[in-house]
Order: sequence, then structure tokens, then C-alpha cells
Amino acid sequence: MKAKIITSIPGPRSRKLLRAHKLVNGGWGAPHPFVHSHEGSGCYFKDIDGNTFLDFASQVASLPLGYNHPDVKEVVRQYARFSPVKYAGQDFLTKEHQALLEELIAIPPAGMNAAFLINSGAEATENAIKICMRKKKMAKYCVSFEGAFHGRTLGALSLTDTKRVHKEHYFSIPTKRLPFTDEAGQALLDLLEREVSLQEIACVIMEPIQGEGGYNFASKKMMKDIRLVTKQKRIPLIMDEVQSGLGRTGRWWAHQHFSIKPEVIAAAKALQVGATIANKQMFPSDVGAISSTWGGGHIIDMAVAVQIIKTIKRRKLLSRTSSMGKYLLKGLHDMSDDVKGVSNPRGLGLMTAVDLPSARVRNNVILEAAKRGLVVLGCGKQSIRFIPPYIIDRDEIDEGLHIFHDAVIYCSQSRFRHRGEICHFMGCGEHSS
Ligand SMILES: Cc1ncc(COP(=O)(O)O)c(C=O)c1O
Repeated sequence: MKAKIITSIPGPRSRKLLRAHKLVNGGWGAPHPFVHSHEGSGCYFKDIDGNTFLDFASQVASLPLGYNHPDVKEVVRQYARFSPVKYAGQDFLTKEHQALLEELIAIPPAGMNAAFLINSGAEATENAIKICMRKKKMAKYCVSFEGAFHGRTLGALSLTDTKRVHKEHYFSIPTKRLPFTDEAGQALLDLLEREVSLQEIACVIMEPIQGEGGYNFASKKMMKDIRLVTKQKRIPLIMDEVQSGLGRTGRWWAHQHFSIKPEVIAAAKALQVGATIANKQMFPSDVGAISSTWGGGHIIDMAVAVQIIKTIKRRKLLSRTSSMGKYLLKGLHDMSDDVKGVSNPRGLGLMTAVDLPSARVRNNVILEAAKRGLVVLGCGKQSIRFIPPYIIDRDEIDEGLHIFHDAVIYCSQSRFRHRGEICHFMGCGEHSS
């Protein structure tokens, strides 16, 4: 397959549906300028106008095996005769729930021998902080990092520090923040010295690679110092691996690259369901302290999650993610050498990004790339992330880089601006400062 655009973008059918959607959708009203059909294969999908796109966004890092993977389709096929597909999973057990827990805790690190299944990434981090609060009954604060993104429920949002629009007018739980730099360990010590007592801190939560915040990579020193201080002071450390976890960086969890072990992991996205993973003794034993009707209840999602883990193991996708990531990063380095305005290539496995000169250029490039058949996502102030499915090959990486390169060159022309309907869509430079 190859990317192939046969209509204007958005195509006529997509345009009609997107306009209708805007009228009734309570959420954010400017998605990407196409409507998915369910056709596609591997890293490619078709929209309802028959255009074929190469996907370097993987449904925001939640599609590790790409479109219509035979292993996943087989699982879904097996469930076609059953209803309901959703059970009240924390109250009524299904075998899929138990199977996923067992698969999850078999993944390193050792000692993480229990997990709580939930619906989303935000709920996975929310429950991670809740179990830590429950352990430290005098706690008043959680500690997170500048530039962090942990989700949009009120608890997770309090720990988030990316864009004002995410937080404006919403109440917060009390939070202290550390710089996402080599000074983080010392800053935590200073916090304990000057502002709050040890008993008042429930947990420290961090992303090993800040996602929404701009693909900022923790340094070895920062990670080592934070682990050292939290361990010495017995503060539970939560790794938010919602975006970076389940193999995207070439290890099961990104924090494994740093040879540290947290007390709690929050996972979701590639896992298809949310999960708070820890040692059994971290979880509250009182009935109802954490729960949710549908947490651990969607039998197809849980069965697909088990299959994804098995397929990653069987097809050795961790080493593939690692080698394809290196190839992609080399391509981005070459591009930053050749193309003015493309800078700061960075990455670990298939979690890679570059910076463009401004948010405006970045947003224009996202739309221009879509018009040429490549889907990419922004992050941070002016970065673009490249997060293709784990099954991508070199030819597909070359194709994506080629489209991206041309889109950047095109948008770099002086006084470039998109015109027409496309300006109503997410990412248009005309819509941003
Ligand atoms: C690191 C991180 N944590 C938490 C979340 C929230 O996940 P969800 O959107 O599934 O609630 C995200 C989502 O982008 C994320 O990247």
C-alpha cells in the first residue's frame, strides 16, 4: 500500500460529516480533516472518500499493531456472537479480566504483581495517585513536573502542566511542581527542606518522556536523582507510561531504559484499557476504595490487550520498535541537517519528534502533510511527534519522511497560508498564535 490522495482534503463525504459533527459534538470541534472508514492495512487507512493515508500518529499512540492486524481481527471475530461486550468488571468477573491481569504482571519489572483495570489513561493516573494517598493518610500534596501531562479528570488535571486551556476554571487538588531538568532531585530536597514535611507528600508522578508537553526526554541524572531521593524518603514514585509504555520505546516501559523501578506504573493507550500497576500491598484492601462500573469490563478490549501483548512477544516487536526507531531518528537527523527550520530531532524507539520554527508553521505542516497523505501530530509549543505503529518498515518510514519533508518545504515559502475549508481544522496555522 502507499499513501494516495484522490480528492481535495477534506473530501466531500468527510466534509459533510465533519460539518454535521461540529454542530452536535460537545467535545473539541476541530478534529483532523478526514473521516475514517474502517478499511486499511498495517500503517495505512482509508477515509470515507477513498483517500489512503499513512499513519504516523497511531490513534495518538494507541494503535501498536496498526489497522486490521490479523491477530486482532481474529480476537474480535471470536467475540462477534456474544453480548454484552461490556460487563461491570469490578463487581462481576470475566475470564478476560483475569487473563489480562496475568499477562500484565508477567511483564517486567518484577514485584509489580497486581493491577487495577480502568477505562482511560487519566483514570489510570488518577487511581495511581489515589492508592498513594491512601497509603499516606497525612498527605496533602502530590508532586509532579513542569510540562507534565497526566490526563483531564480533575485529579490527573491538577498534576498536568501543559496548556492553560486544559486547566482554566477547573479546581485543583494541591500540587507541588519540580523542574523537568537535572536539578529535579535537588528541587525535591529543597521542597522538603523549605515548604512541606515528608508526611505531607503522597507521591511523585512523572512521565519518563513528556508526551503532550513536547517529547521532552528525562536525563539519566534526573531519573537517578529522583529515584534516589524518593527511595531515601520513602515517597512512592509513579511512572506515567500511558503514552510511552507497552513497547513504544523498544522496552516494555520507557523507565526501564534508566534502570530504575517505580512503585506504581500507569498504563493505557496501546494497552486499549487503563491500568494502574503496582505491588499488591500498594492497593487499598477496603472494599470500594477504588472502583468503576466498567473498569475491567470491556471483554473485547481486554482480549485485544492480551493479544497485543502476545503479538509483541511472538513477533519480537520490542527489538523491531528499537531498530525502526533508530532508522526513523536517523532520517530526522538527516532532514534537520538539510532542511532549514527542522531542528532538535530526538527519540527513543518509535517515540520521536522534531521542532519547527513556530507553532504556526508546525500547525500548517500538520495540515499540509494530511493533504499529501501523511498523518502526524503536534506536541509541546512547536514540535511534531512521529509515533507510527510498531509494525512499520523502512520503506514506509522513507515514504512518511519524504511527505513530511515536502510539506515542510512547501509551508516554508514566504507568506504561506492554507486557504478554504481546511482552515477550520485542527492544527491550521491560521487558528493559532
Ligand atoms: C502521559 C499521559 N498520561 C495520561 C494521559 C491521559 O490519557 P487519556 O486521554 O486516555 O485519558 C495521556 C494522554 O495523552 C498521556 O499522554
